[in-house]
Amino acid sequence: MDRNFALEFVRVTEAAALESALMMGRGDEKAADHAAVEAMRKMLNSIQFDGTVVIGEGERDEAPMLFIGEKVGKGSGQKLDLALDPLEGTTICARGGNNALSVIAIAEEGKFLHAPDTYMEKIAVGPDAKGAIDLRLSATENLKNIAQAKKLNVEQLTVIILDRPRHENLIAEVRALGSRIWLIGDGDVSAAISTCKPGSGVDVLLGSGGAPEGVIAAAALRCLGGDMQGRLIFRKDDEKSRARKMGITDFDRIYKIEDLAQGNVMFCATGVTQGTYLDGVTFFKGGAKTHSVVMRSESGTVRTIVAEHRFETKPKY
Ligand code: FBP
Repeated sequence: MDRNFALEFVRVTEAAALESALMMGRGDEKAADHAAVEAMRKMLNSIQFDGTVVIGEGERDEAPMLFIGEKVGKGSGQKLDLALDPLEGTTICARGGNNALSVIAIAEEGKFLHAPDTYMEKIAVGPDAKGAIDLRLSATENLKNIAQAKKLNVEQLTVIILDRPRHENLIAEVRALGSRIWLIGDGDVSAAISTCKPGSGVDVLLGSGGAPEGVIAAAALRCLGGDMQGRLIFRKDDEKSRARKMGITDFDRIYKIEDLAQGNVMFCATGVTQGTYLDGVTFFKGGAKTHSVVMRSESGTVRTIVAEHRFETKPKY
């Protein structure tokens, strides 16, 4: 994959973040998401490549833009698959909370798991606990192994978990072990990435969240040297038939990080609201400042890009 795409794709997440940041705290999730989607799509279509959305806003009949299978880019050039979320954390943005991001992951054709819109049980850690996770084991066993790898006591580990009733047993188990818990309202992509940031205060992500978000997080963690596993969760039979249509036959499979995002991947994110991994958009007279990151698994380079945008001279998204 041409490394120069890095700057092209960071412009895409910047555009989506700039537009959705204007909707922060307005209580309108749909409007915030729509602003991000429109901006992301316009920017994607200004890039010379032959792109296909494999993880997007939903299936064609339910998402007008950036739906699964939508072709993006100018149409000629390198064939790339995209796993994207123009606004990861729509509720966060609508409420003005922390850690809303605009994200896009890029891989060569056929390298992302075509994840159905179901939940995925996830475990994610940073580089210092790579190889210490195994979804076949209990949360307790995993946390003991992670603590050992990180040379910490289990009581010193911080586990980030989505605050959901479905996690009641998981939370009780982690509490019984004595590890620290950070309950978050939304945004498990940001949570997964934070496990790779020294000093973020996050050691491990546990629990279930969106399967598409799982693929996006795996791409980021591949670049950052972290580790992740996921297992799809099916609540209804129609979820299984949707998964079958996307080529999934083994419903109990544990996906390792390379099964979620294979080959050379690139990942870009821009902070929408203030966050643990990235600062959010701030506005100043005549412009705005964005904080982004762009990384590639091939080189392992992680670039942080702080950009000042001047609205007078900037194209309208
Ligand atoms: P959206 O940006 O699509 O609203 O996703 C936010 C999120 O919190 C994800 O980070 C997470 O994977 C998923 O929702 C969890 O789903 P649920 O809210 O149904 O528990």
